[in-house]
Amino acid sequence: MADTPVVLLGVTGGIAAYKAAELLRGLQKAGMDVRVVMTRAATRFVGPWTFETLSMHPVRLDEISEIRSDSRITHVEDSKEADIMVIAPATANTIAKMANGIADNLLTSMYLAFGKTVVVAPAMNTQMWEHPATQRNVAALREHGVFVVEPGAGELACGDFGSGRMADPASIVAEVKLRLQVQRKRDLRGMRVIITAGGTREPIDAVRFIGNRSSGKMGFALARAAFDRGAQVELIQANVDLPPVPGVRQTETPTASQMHAEVMKRLPSADILIMAAAVADYRVAEGPAGGKVGKGRSDWRINLEATKDILCDVASQRSGQYVVGFAAEYGLEGLERARAKMERKRLDMLVFNDISRPDIGFESDYNEVRILTRDKEVQVDKAPKETIAEIILDHIAEAVRSRRGEASATA
Ligand SMILES: Cc1cc2nc3c(=O)[nH]c(=O)nc-3n(C[C@H](O)[C@H](O)[C@H](O)COP(=O)(O)O)c2cc1C
Repeated sequence: MADTPVVLLGVTGGIAAYKAAELLRGLQKAGMDVRVVMTRAATRFVGPWTFETLSMHPVRLDEISEIRSDSRITHVEDSKEADIMVIAPATANTIAKMANGIADNLLTSMYLAFGKTVVVAPAMNTQMWEHPATQRNVAALREHGVFVVEPGAGELACGDFGSGRMADPASIVAEVKLRLQVQRKRDLRGMRVIITAGGTREPIDAVRFIGNRSSGKMGFALARAAFDRGAQVELIQANVDLPPVPGVRQTETPTASQMHAEVMKRLPSADILIMAAAVADYRVAEGPAGGKVGKGRSDWRINLEATKDILCDVASQRSGQYVVGFAAEYGLEGLERARAKMERKRLDMLVFNDISRPDIGFESDYNEVRILTRDKEVQVDKAPKETIAEIILDHIAEAVRSRRGEASATA
């Protein structure tokens, strides 16, 4: 990446297209060189001259002249020059095309040919935003690795109040800066990182189980972010219904004992272990009943026994790995228990999150955490799990670096 990052700004045909001019200025003020591509509909809202003048580059328009006089194929060549693509505002229509790989204009062709980080800021009326088709398409974009800056709520151009208003240009700039920083970092290059994700299920019989609500989203966000930073990543996952993470080796371990075995097997070759999975503390003592237990009885008592504590066994067998635990506790009073857990299990870091709040944590795309290490505590306010993952990895990378520095200084 050159010193001045190049941003390809895609503008689509929504009322918020005028805010793209402010966004362009914000990106420039943050030290970026911006090139603009507009859809035909976007040009009905704001003239290309606005973007041409502000960006000091010709604006790419949605014309069929994709092979220029110098024989360059625009959608491929211009994509190569950019470090990041930002589509803001992104209409419901363009999001739908991107989600389905439709490349019937220059902007969507560039998106498909891009292959690097893409940030999308949707903007539309509330009904359009909340429509299941749009929600499905946005979820598909996330699955394809696109970073979505969620629209905010407020008064919309149509006079309605609700969600769908494009996020503030300042927060889109902040997201782009964060993504570029991550691209530049590669600060986990060469390191082997093991991450557990999801929630284990302990069978009661052939169809029933004791499980938990962990979705695996936090662990998957960590895996993707660690891979982007150059790490060799292995995900040990339990019952996660999310698409595979490109570049990451994934192993299914549905129960606590399977996850225990897999973690212990891989621990010796790891540099960093991040235990983001929710592992069952108890399982059926007699083992699962054969077949499906019928309905005929008035009550059914099941004896539970403790599962093997993975972190305790890691604590006794580790040899220099940086070990991170997660504590999902109910209410802030859980923080004290989390601190005690960190001591007891000899963790280097513990990420505390409060699962009493419905807007963060389990199943949510958001989290708010407190990062505890031996010498500090850092509060990380509510943010998408992808952002939380980056912040956690910042702290891990810094700690591992300083530990290695200390080790080589004393060698
Ligand atoms: C006045 C007006 C405002 C519009 N605003 C939006 C909008 O904010 N968001 C959106 O998704 N579509 C909006 N649309 C619909 C899009 O312009 C339409 O779907 C168009 O095909 C989008 O093309 P594009 O995605 O190629 O830019 C608007 C249409 C009109 C006529």
